[in-house]
Amino acid sequence: MKIAISGAGGFIGSTLTRALSVPENQVLRIVRTNAETSASELRWNPATGTIDRKHMEGIDAVVHLAGENIVGRWTQDKKNRIRDSRVLGTRLLVETLAGLTHPPKALICASATGYYGDRRDEVLTEKSSSGRGFLAEVCSEWEEATTLASAAGIRVVMLRFGLVLSGRGGGLPRMLLPFRLGLGGPIGGGQQYVSWITLVDAVHATQFALEQETLSGPVNVVAPQSVTQREFARTLGNVLSRPAFLPIPAFIVRGLLGDMGQEVLLNSARVAPNKLTDAGFQYEHPVIENALQACCQRPSRT
Ligand SMILES: NC(=O)c1ccc[n+]([C@@H]2O[C@H](COP(=O)([O-])OP(=O)(O)OC[C@H]3O[C@@H](n4cnc5c(N)ncnc54)[C@H](OP(=O)(O)O)[C@@H]3O)[C@@H](O)[C@H]2O)c1
Repeated sequence: MKIAISGAGGFIGSTLTRALSVPENQVLRIVRTNAETSASELRWNPATGTIDRKHMEGIDAVVHLAGENIVGRWTQDKKNRIRDSRVLGTRLLVETLAGLTHPPKALICASATGYYGDRRDEVLTEKSSSGRGFLAEVCSEWEEATTLASAAGIRVVMLRFGLVLSGRGGGLPRMLLPFRLGLGGPIGGGQQYVSWITLVDAVHATQFALEQETLSGPVNVVAPQSVTQREFARTLGNVLSRPAFLPIPAFIVRGLLGDMGQEVLLNSARVAPNKLTDAGFQYEHPVIENALQACCQRPSRT
């Protein structure tokens, strides 16, 4: 397959790019650069609406992962970048793909379980409605921006990723130091559900979505076992053989991290991967204990 990937240098994209770079595939990275591009790169700039249209012809599938990282203080400027990089970036890509003489067969577009908002212990499947809040709005607009691709006959899959766990990137390494010092514990009461997946399984699920021609629409990319924040903290403490009893109250999270802390750390989303399991996807790490063990090994394999 000839596959183009946006966000190929990011946390998920770099591992995915390595996994897809086998002799049977040709992988092209869609990059934001003003410098000369190589034969394996396509240039775009979602902020200015420019893209190397000519070299998009003949591509079999596009994996679209690009977007401003959501970590950081959500000032109005940061929020605009989070939203615009996803919504305008997706529109630019989709309009380009739909206008090609030979559009690709598949567009695999990232989204997030943030789509569901704060839902306590409700089990959330791909059929559940979207929630409220900034991330839920961004995810809805981001997914809606793919509509033109479906209308052009392209199979579109929106991967609603949960918290992607790895010892080498994403949110987990930031949590490890306090836990290793015995200063870890549940966040904000610990009743809220965390829907997670290891990086290995997130990448395999993306490859699965590329291959499974019957899969389309939203797909929850989470492990089959979501856990409460309290259970997550307790398991991480066990895996590291450290106590994990020091709670971090919600008001401290909100005070330090504002809306980002509320939506990313305090919101509850108990998400079920119905479409992946129904389609026969096999997880390497279906259970939180094994997942965290794999992530916390030194040097980490995942
Ligand atoms: N990691 C998670 O736990 C998680 C959970 C849920 C959803 N997701 C979603 O999955 C996607 C990939 O996640 P990730 O963790 O790999 O993200 P990441 O490490 O932050 O990488 C995203 C990539 O997007 C591009 N990018 C950054 N800022 C941009 C901007 N302002 N405009 C356009 N492109 C920009 C960059 O690639 P270039 O520099 O090459 O352009 C960057 O490498 C993201 O859309 C993210 O929201 C991730």
